[in-house]
Amino acid sequence: MSDLESLFASNVKWANDIKENDPEFFSDLAKQQTPEYLWIGCSDSRVPANQIVDLAPGELFVHRNVANVVIHTDLNCLTVLNYAVEFLKVKHVMVTGHYGCGGVRAALENRKLGLIDYWLRNIRDIYYNNRDQIDAIERFEDRVNRLCELNVIQQMDNIAHCNIVQNAWGRGQELSIHGWIYDIRDGILHKLREPIDSLEKIPEEYRLYS
Ligand code: CO
Repeated sequence: MSDLESLFASNVKWANDIKENDPEFFSDLAKQQTPEYLWIGCSDSRVPANQIVDLAPGELFVHRNVANVVIHTDLNCLTVLNYAVEFLKVKHVMVTGHYGCGGVRAALENRKLGLIDYWLRNIRDIYYNNRDQIDAIERFEDRVNRLCELNVIQQMDNIAHCNIVQNAWGRGQELSIHGWIYDIRDGILHKLREPIDSLEKIPEEYRLYS
């Protein structure tokens, strides 16, 4: 069996195992999705969103990109956020970074990699704004890991500063922005900061009024 054929065989076994427990699982799911969570995470193959939090298909709306970055001109990410908040009415958005992130590491190294340099510039800005704190850390891997944490914190702010999120709060919709980090060395998730769940939790300079 070729490698790809084995993936199809695994798929059939997976679907059959689920149907054995719950014969209506897929037919019910085909009618609608009602996830309560939007996960914004890294594309890294070691950080599989659903598996880490043990959620079934239908329970987690997911957006992943290199180094879990939320940029206000990224139509892809904003579209996911918009759809999740306005139509699916998710209650929680979790930005989940991970220690040892290759994208964050690349942003700390002054190497030309090509197109990805534009993307990683956003993380380089976070390093630059926090360079005293990061440069004071002795080991390079620890500097990478601290920047992984600061990146999550910045992306929480970037989400909270979007009008998509602020409009939801304005409508009285329940919505919390969380910042988590995953440790690929032991499989454990950690909270980095208190959730942002209202306009009052963000600086006045970033509040949008109509
Ligand atoms: Co990563």
